[in-house]
Amino acid sequence: MHYRKRLLIVTLLIAGLFVVGAGVLTACGGGVPKAAPQPTISVAPHAQGVTEEAKACIECHAKETPGIVNDWDHSAHAQKGVTCLDCHQTTADSPMVLKDIKGHENVKQPLSMLVPPSTCAKCHPNEVKEFDASGHHRAALQVEAKDAMQTLIHHHEGRDFEGLDDATEQTGCMQCHGKRIKVDEHGIPTADTYPASGIGNIYPNGEVGNCTVCHTRHKFSIAEARHPEACASCHLGPDHPDIEIYENTKHGQIYATEGETWKWDSPPGDWEPGDYRAPTCATCHMSGIGDLKPTHNVSQRLYWNAWAKISKPRNSDDPMSMLTGHAEKGRAEMKQACLQCHTSKMVDDYFASADAAVELYNKAYYTPAKQMLDELKAKGLLKKNPWADRFQILYYHLWHHQGRRARQGALMGAPDWAHWHGFFILQQNLYEMQDIYNYRMETGEIEKP
Ligand code: HEC
Ligand code: HEC
Ligand code: HEC
Ligand code: HEC
Ligand code: HEC
Ligand code: HEC
Ligand code: HEC
Ligand code: HEC
Repeated sequence: MHYRKRLLIVTLLIAGLFVVGAGVLTACGGGVPKAAPQPTISVAPHAQGVTEEAKACIECHAKETPGIVNDWDHSAHAQKGVTCLDCHQTTADSPMVLKDIKGHENVKQPLSMLVPPSTCAKCHPNEVKEFDASGHHRAALQVEAKDAMQTLIHHHEGRDFEGLDDATEQTGCMQCHGKRIKVDEHGIPTADTYPASGIGNIYPNGEVGNCTVCHTRHKFSIAEARHPEACASCHLGPDHPDIEIYENTKHGQIYATEGETWKWDSPPGDWEPGDYRAPTCATCHMSGIGDLKPTHNVSQRLYWNAWAKISKPRNSDDPMSMLTGHAEKGRAEMKQACLQCHTSKMVDDYFASADAAVELYNKAYYTPAKQMLDELKAKGLLKKNPWADRFQILYYHLWHHQGRRARQGALMGAPDWAHWHGFFILQQNLYEMQDIYNYRMETGEIEKP
């Protein structure tokens, strides 16, 4: 069945090629009789206003990489005549320019495989500016800059194993955070730095960002980015279970039961309640709703930093700062979204409870944990290797796993994550840390396993 379907598509594509490339065909004396009825389908039937130059890319790539051409053909770009060349043409002196590509012998334009955000910015300058001001911007830069992270990746996880110590980064961190991409002498990214589907890729020309993670290439669809699944490839798991949190809310429940009937492709700023009944990640963090303008700065509507060891109100314009954003303004904007569907009484009371949970974590969990850590350190009662020291492992889990789950669960209205995966485990965690702390302080020794 599938095989037959594929065969049909290939046949149609080839037939289409003959139509578009009729001139070429005659020139080569091709074997299709002129009188025979031809299906009036072209290689990219939805595309409009495509230039002659771009047709060459499309025709050949419809054979070489039909998936890419098909996605592009179903994009807003194809409909507006934005072609392969608009994104892949570069300057001859670009550090990313492709050289000696098999199949490109007759291609005259300098091309790059990598398409950094400045290319999108030619037509979408605001989105790029907003992204650059957000916490997403620093995702790869900060991992690269932190010694403790590099030690974790290469030494502890990679076991310093010659030639293989980078494998955990290549299959883990960088697929969410991004990577400094290097290119070989042909302008092709190297195997250890590509594919890199992280959000903060660093390009060979120094540019930062990845515009393909929420609306993937080559469809670049606004509808896809508005679905919660667009965030879920990265925002999940034990340390930031945001998709699981969403599923645990009434909003997620409503989305799961009827989301497929909603209208997803309204123009930006015009996607309003009525198109949908409950918000998705995008509605609260990015989309326009009511008088609130859309933004690609996901830090803009936040009050707290809810991932750090201790949560503080945001107060910085620097995307490299962990407190990027402005607490009061962020909260006011977030509430503006809620108020399209709820009353101020409900929304204010909701945030009062959520903020209390964050304060409780700060004051009753993190602060005493940190105090014990500092005292043990001062007395030389911590192991040098934090990943082989029960106390330090518990400390890490307290803020990085259960502490984040409790805070993010509370702030996004997910009772299971605030409680059972959050505060319930936090109190157990703290009791165990206190036990170890007492033993070490009383005996002056680190316990044996
Ligand atoms: C005659 C066929 C042909 C034409 C015309 C053509 N390409 Fe290609 N292109 C290929 C082949 C073959 C590859 C290599 C695919 C592979 O490695 O799997 C390729 C690779 C690429 C790559 C990725 C680089 C790499 O090595 O993986 C990009 C980007 C690209 N082409 C864009 C374009 C653009 C833009 C045009 C139009 C200016 C174009 N191509 C014209 C056949 C063609
Ligand atoms: C709106 C911009 C845009 C347009 C239009 C576009 N591309 Fe791309 N293309 C990208 C981006 C972004 C990437 C990912 C590169 C990166 O990681 O930096 C990419 C990657 C690629 C790759 C290599 C990646 C892979 O999956 O193998 C090929 C080949 C390619 N494009 C071909 C084409 C062809 C052919 C067309 C026209 C039919 C086209 N592109 C149109 C933006 C575009
Ligand atoms: C040459 C100009 C141009 C370039 C370069 C360009 N775009 Fe676009 N883009 C457009 C146009 C035109 C539209 C259609 C806008 C409309 O319909 O109002 C569009 C629409 C979009 C949409 C909305 C699609 C939808 O479903 O409505 C997204 C997302 C998008 N572009 C992302 C990108 C990204 C990411 C890049 C870089 C990889 C990029 N664009 C590069 C011109 C461009
Ligand atoms: C490809 C992976 C990826 C995708 C997809 C992704 N994010 Fe993120 N996000 C990250 C990473 C990595 C960070 C942490 C950046 C840092 O601080 O280093 C982050 C951080 C954030 C933050 C906190 C920013 C701050 O200032 O602390 C918010 C909010 C956020 N993302 C929301 C979203 C939303 C909403 C979506 C979907 C529309 C989304 N993200 C899609 C990887 C991703
Ligand atoms: C599944 C995707 C994913 C993987 C894999 C991943 N991260 Fe993250 N990371 C995230 C997201 C999402 C956040 C943002 C959490 C939030 O905003 O609450 C984050 C946050 C962080 C932060 C805090 C942000 C900051 O600016 O300091 C650091 C540090 C970090 N990750 C490092 C790493 C390292 C190092 C690895 C690999 C050893 C890694 N991450 C693996 C998705 C991921
Ligand atoms: C974290 C996820 C995410 C990332 C990363 C992202 N986008 Fe978007 N994008 C969205 C969402 C969600 C929408 C729809 C917003 C709305 O509902 O108005 C969107 C919409 C768009 C649109 C359509 C808006 C319009 O005015 O037509 C464009 C263009 C666009 N994005 C370009 C980009 C560019 C360029 C980048 C890279 C700097 C980028 N996006 C990175 C999630 C993302
Ligand atoms: C009903 C609105 C709403 C929805 C839906 C929603 N969020 Fe949130 N999100 C919030 C609020 C409110 C906060 C806390 C903001 C603050 O600091 O006051 C938050 C916090 C976050 C944070 C923590 C940032 C930090 O400082 O660590 C991340 C990450 C995040 N959201 C991602 C997501 C993702 C991914 C989804 C979808 C799976 C999502 N959110 C769905 C409202 C929402
Ligand atoms: C698009 C409309 C919409 C937006 C925007 C929205 N909600 Fe909701 N919300 C709903 C609907 C519908 C329900 C289900 C009501 C029910 O349970 O009968 C709901 C339920 C809730 C609930 C569960 C309690 C209850 O009354 O059922 C809470 C808490 C909540 N929302 C908080 C928020 C917060 C906080 C925001 C903003 C950060 C927000 N909502 C944004 C539509 C929305």
